Amino acid sequence: MTKQDELKQLVGQEAVKFIKDGMIVGLGTGSTVKFMVDALGKRVADEQLSIVGVPTSQRTKEQATRLGIPVKDLDEVDHIDLTIDGADQIDKNFQGIKGGGAAHLWEKIVAINSTKNIWIVDKTKMVDQLGSFPLPLEVIPYGSHQLFQRLANRGFNPVFRMKDGHHVLTDSNNYIIDLHLHQIQDPQGLAFTLNQMTGIVEHGLFLNIVNTVIVGEENGPKVLQA
Ligand code: A5P
Repeated sequence: MTKQDELKQLVGQEAVKFIKDGMIVGLGTGSTVKFMVDALGKRVADEQLSIVGVPTSQRTKEQATRLGIPVKDLDEVDHIDLTIDGADQIDKNFQGIKGGGAAHLWEKIVAINSTKNIWIVDKTKMVDQLGSFPLPLEVIPYGSHQLFQRLANRGFNPVFRMKDGHHVLTDSNNYIIDLHLHQIQDPQGLAFTLNQMTGIVEHGLFLNIVNTVIVGEENGPKVLQA
């Protein structure tokens, strides 16, 4: 395991300590969350912990089910106590970019329906300013080349996310466009602009959503309150 994976595993293990018996827990997506779901599966098996997981992607749903964690869809529960998810970048004001794994639409829907949100990251994700990580947009395929042009005209440096010559598809069968912005000086303003653009289903700016960030550092996980 790489050093970075060790840090991801440690924050995953730390995060499941926040889960109490009887909770309904949003389960994020990504390589860091994968370690968290492994640790949760172990708690469910070892302690007969009774929880329900609400997955934010098919990938997480499959992993949780395989590990014996009971799962329900968002519309089958009446609340979510806590969601644990990864992030691609977090700035000093605890604003984040997500969607590197093409799952930010479901992740945001689950996050805004959660009483509390915890993000788990290795220390490389903590930045002064967002933007060096490309900002993901989930977009409707219909007319997406026209949308792409409108984004390019605004100087947003859009790039369709492709794999093996095909568009990457989200769990809702939409495309991803990544904006190579390098610096985001006004996350709120940018979010407002993107929210107005028809064809964008959701952008990866997660503003004023997280309550607690657990950062993987060499000398152990550090818990930060937003
Ligand atoms: C999924 O689309 C993302 O929002 C992930 O939560 C984010 O990319 C973090 O993933 P890693 O833990 O794999 O870096």
